[in-house]
Amino acid sequence: MIFRQLFDSESSTYAYLIGSRRGGEALLIDSVLDKVDRYVQLLNELDLRLVKAVDTHVHADHVTGLGALRDRTKCITVMSERSGVDVVSMRVADGDSIDIEGTSLKVLYTPGHTDDSCSFLLNDRVFTGDTLLIRGTGRTDFQNGDPSDQYHAIFDKLLKLPDDTLVYPAHDYKGDTVSTIGEEKAFNPRLQVKSESEYVDLMNGLNLPNPKMMDVAVPANLKVGLSQDELEARGWSLTCAQARDKLGSPDIVLVDLRDETERERHGVIPGSVHVAYPDLDAGVKPGGLLHELAVATDKRLVFYCAYGERSAMAVQTAQDAGLSKSCHIKGGMDAWKKMDGPLD
Ligand SMILES: [Fe+2]
Repeated sequence: MIFRQLFDSESSTYAYLIGSRRGGEALLIDSVLDKVDRYVQLLNELDLRLVKAVDTHVHADHVTGLGALRDRTKCITVMSERSGVDVVSMRVADGDSIDIEGTSLKVLYTPGHTDDSCSFLLNDRVFTGDTLLIRGTGRTDFQNGDPSDQYHAIFDKLLKLPDDTLVYPAHDYKGDTVSTIGEEKAFNPRLQVKSESEYVDLMNGLNLPNPKMMDVAVPANLKVGLSQDELEARGWSLTCAQARDKLGSPDIVLVDLRDETERERHGVIPGSVHVAYPDLDAGVKPGGLLHELAVATDKRLVFYCAYGERSAMAVQTAQDAGLSKSCHIKGGMDAWKKMDGPLD
């Protein structure tokens, strides 16, 4: 496994780069906007292709690199389905997996610091965001935080992991880089409580000042979505109703860009073919299956995904490859379900 812990000294944030092999796919957890140049350089140096950028929660102390990474690398942006972010490409819930080639993160919903906080389990290690820190826990006094939720997330989920599980948090202010579940159980002062109510009292008594970046970071982090309006202006988008009218038409090929886990959970538009977004480039360039299909049959490729973001990027890629009829379904499966569109 390729694994790098990357530090931003401005906000004391750790980002984590994960890949399974040189030349393969990579994933980045909790990126910082100011460090995006560095991440992109490192991806090039290690010969990795970033396919997913994931945040553990909506951060209040730094601006996320999600939007910039998507624009620079065309990666999929991922957050909790509870995040109010408008809009990441893929949203996950407890028990879901976030997959890249050779590697899979298991999503643990661990609210309390915020109501969208997740931790990610990868074999022998867990990325705990601001839920469990080294010898500390994330504050619970803003962004819909809740000390009682956090108590349960920590005691009922994280501390149930094997004692030798490595703990990689989103921040450290003292210079520690890694801990273990067993160490935190034994030595984390916040966890030496006898009951939920004792923990709630402890957290409610902290009286911390607001983070300096909060007024800038939270609004910025709630607006990382890619605008789909430009595609519409160019005639490269269909509304859900327009797409529904074309279902079964021999003139189109519907292409579902989502991961298998999303397809299983949310259903599939009838008659669509599946090309997961990370495989799209190969499919639409000359010689690729979709490219040859579109050219040979003169069919229009109609891409869709969860919210319309991956499909918007796919349209651009297909247009760049000369497939000038390509378009997408604006708003994706989310909008399709709101319209009560048919599903398989
Ligand atoms: Fe946080």
